[in-house]
Amino acid sequence: MIDIHCHILNGVDDGSMSEAESLVMAESASDGGTRAIVATSHYFNEYQCEKLLSKKEIKEKFRDLKRYFERVKAPVNLYLGSEQYGVNNIYSLIENDELITINDSKYLLIEFSLDDEIERAKYVISQFEDTGIIPVIAHPERYEFVQDDITNVFWFLRKNCLLQVNKGSIIGRFGAEAEHTAMRILRERVAHAVASDAHGPYQRTANLSEAFERVCFELGDSYADYLFYDTPDRIVHNKYIERY
Ligand SMILES: [Fe+2]
Repeated sequence: MIDIHCHILNGVDDGSMSEAESLVMAESASDGGTRAIVATSHYFNEYQCEKLLSKKEIKEKFRDLKRYFERVKAPVNLYLGSEQYGVNNIYSLIENDELITINDSKYLLIEFSLDDEIERAKYVISQFEDTGIIPVIAHPERYEFVQDDITNVFWFLRKNCLLQVNKGSIIGRFGAEAEHTAMRILRERVAHAVASDAHGPYQRTANLSEAFERVCFELGDSYADYLFYDTPDRIVHNKYIERY
């Protein structure tokens, strides 16, 4: 499995606090069957919409962690990405090459505030049209505008976005509403990937096995493989992704 959403990069955001924590996260991921992780730190602050660190600083931190992982023979491979906050002026970031896409591919993980307005999300996503960048919507099941009206996910699909569901939602860690909405999205077979969105070694962990087993059990092995193996692999290697 490849985990395309994980706050494993230490000292950038509210994820891992140290190299040692990152290593524990990697070990827990590996125990659950993950062989590669995309480090997707929050890059822009949700409220001030300002950068937490520059792109250059994040790249340096990533290089350091990758070196450490090589030295200690960590059981997973690392790729760089980010969890881009959906700022209103996202087009200027695209133009200025400020985005950090997943492993330098055309795929960008993007999030909104959980209580955002759908109209604002649409305004942000519309700016990607004709840019060649494909937004991967992080945890759609956690947004109020999706919980209140599931048809909003179809708008994202019409705009060529991909949908990434959180493993924590599938196993009920974000409450009944997120779990219910996640399972509705999955039953429609419109999600493209499941990822950990892990923030540390002990809570919201990087181990995907429980969610994988639930998806296998309820939706079948073939769709589980698509969500946990096939699409994440294609994203990381910048390949075209077909709907399931
Ligand atoms: Fe995240």
